[in-house]
Amino acid sequence: MNMNPIPAREGNHNLQDYEKTYNGFNWNEMKKQFSWNSTGKVNMAYEAIDRHAENPDTKDKVALLYSAPDKEETLTFNELSKKSNQFANVLKKHQIEKGDRVFLFMPRSPEFYMSFLGILKVGAIAGPLFEAFMEQAVHDRLEDSEAKMLITTPELLERVPQDKLPYLKQIVLVGGMKEGKQYISFDQEMKKASENFDIEWVDLEDGMLIHYTSGSTGKPKGVYHVHNAMIQHLATGQWVLDLKEDDVYWCTADPGWVTGTSYGIFAPWLNGVTNVIRGGRFSPEDWYGTIEKHKVTVWYSAPTAFRKFLSAGSEVASKFDLSSLRHILSVGEPLNPEVIHWGIEAFNKRIHDNWWMTETGGQLISNYPSLDIKPGSMGKPIPGVEAAIIDNEGNKLPPNQMGNLAIKKGWPSMMRQIWKRPEKYESYFIGDWYVSGDSAYMDEDGYFWFQGRLDDVINTSGERVGPFEVESKLIEHPAVAEAGVIGKPDPERGEIIKAFVTLREGHQESDDLLEDIRLFVKNGLSAHAAPREIEIRETIPKTRSGKIMRRLLKSWELGLPTGDTSTLEE
Ligand code: WTA
Repeated sequence: MNMNPIPAREGNHNLQDYEKTYNGFNWNEMKKQFSWNSTGKVNMAYEAIDRHAENPDTKDKVALLYSAPDKEETLTFNELSKKSNQFANVLKKHQIEKGDRVFLFMPRSPEFYMSFLGILKVGAIAGPLFEAFMEQAVHDRLEDSEAKMLITTPELLERVPQDKLPYLKQIVLVGGMKEGKQYISFDQEMKKASENFDIEWVDLEDGMLIHYTSGSTGKPKGVYHVHNAMIQHLATGQWVLDLKEDDVYWCTADPGWVTGTSYGIFAPWLNGVTNVIRGGRFSPEDWYGTIEKHKVTVWYSAPTAFRKFLSAGSEVASKFDLSSLRHILSVGEPLNPEVIHWGIEAFNKRIHDNWWMTETGGQLISNYPSLDIKPGSMGKPIPGVEAAIIDNEGNKLPPNQMGNLAIKKGWPSMMRQIWKRPEKYESYFIGDWYVSGDSAYMDEDGYFWFQGRLDDVINTSGERVGPFEVESKLIEHPAVAEAGVIGKPDPERGEIIKAFVTLREGHQESDDLLEDIRLFVKNGLSAHAAPREIEIRETIPKTRSGKIMRRLLKSWELGLPTGDTSTLEE
């Protein structure tokens, strides 16, 4: 395969200008683009929506373009501003105050975005949950965050164990009502609510958003972000997404994941561009059709989707007019060089890989438009960000040596807390370095190359799954005694989840049982967390202190040397 760097497009801003502009860049520069820089009044929702709604040049521009197989709807900045004001009034009426956690558990829809923005407008903290979560996953997140209100649909309500959530006081139902409890009807309340609202001005360091993400041990952790993150979202929207006034932008990620908020809500709207939101499931035809129909210019997706396009073949791509595309980006897992070369064939465009995490709140390392791409590399740090490869003591390592990928503290969108777990938050840092948990190396030219996760976290189709959460669910199954879960490399999904289980007395291995166990996880936790492979074993290897040795399971599975097994239990 051709491994030469792929040069930047002609006519784009060139690298020398870029580096000259940003040499010695200071984040204070970026602040000048916000209205609070002169007014002192801060709120993300104001900067993203109301500011454009107050401007005669942009108020009637389409902000949200919702496109689903059965429904299409557009909202201008002015309309979205009013709708989110209405919902903010609904929240106020029901005693939601600054700092309260309000969670959303529903599919992508215009109502989701009205609600989300309304939550920010009252100064509350939004917690978006992926619609595929099942009861246990929903419970753990609502319980940990002590969410006071949940916005959901009648269909999803059955996955909300209301009697086990003492802090949950109110439930708003979107798209229909249910008998019984005192539910709040989204439709009825919105009809009654005023379109004017006095937005709650906050501090840049006030909480805005909690995303739950998986670690290798324990329950998912609440990654807490503040309004200050907008500085990074605005900047990376310009530098990395390359957003221009007339762009039609489409980020394919669900807002239950961080990409779907930072880059599916904040970056496009802070930059005042039209944001395409697509509902429904993935298929190459539907997705290509979305690009063709809405003349999408900037498209942000993930390797797992690009690999599916690749296997669908170039004939499928050639049936659609994709010529509107100007800029394509990818995040979530390593972008295979093969996919980049295919992208050039299929779209006549480079796919720009970039690296970041839930905890970092925004892009940090990227292939920005003016940079030559080395296929397989995540690119270089953006202006104002210092990235390095360090050892476990915090010393920088020389080029081409593998180590911890770390970022110098202080970028604007860095998480400010792990909700209620200060010791967990502290554990991310060595001195001034935020340590990502990824291993990587940097080459002589300053490009970063991803090598893998250092912990046991599984990355399946771009989604982080903590083995512990899956194991916990597995052992709730009546036939399962113990479980160990690993990620197994897979050409399409990056990794798939493989579970090793021991059976309780009186249970026999059978295909039906394996399928039943798989469905148990799928229905109890979520489809993406369900193991694709399950293997029954006599024992699960553990350390003397009782920790499951996933590393050992993985070595066995892959036929690799087992390394140090000194802590293995007899
Ligand atoms: C992985 C998603 C390789 C990495 C925004 C990271 C990547 C984790 C890349 C974060 C990339 C993300 N190349 N690996 N370009 N981008 N990752 O929190 O392991 O869902 O730590 O955030 O995904 O996943 P998260």
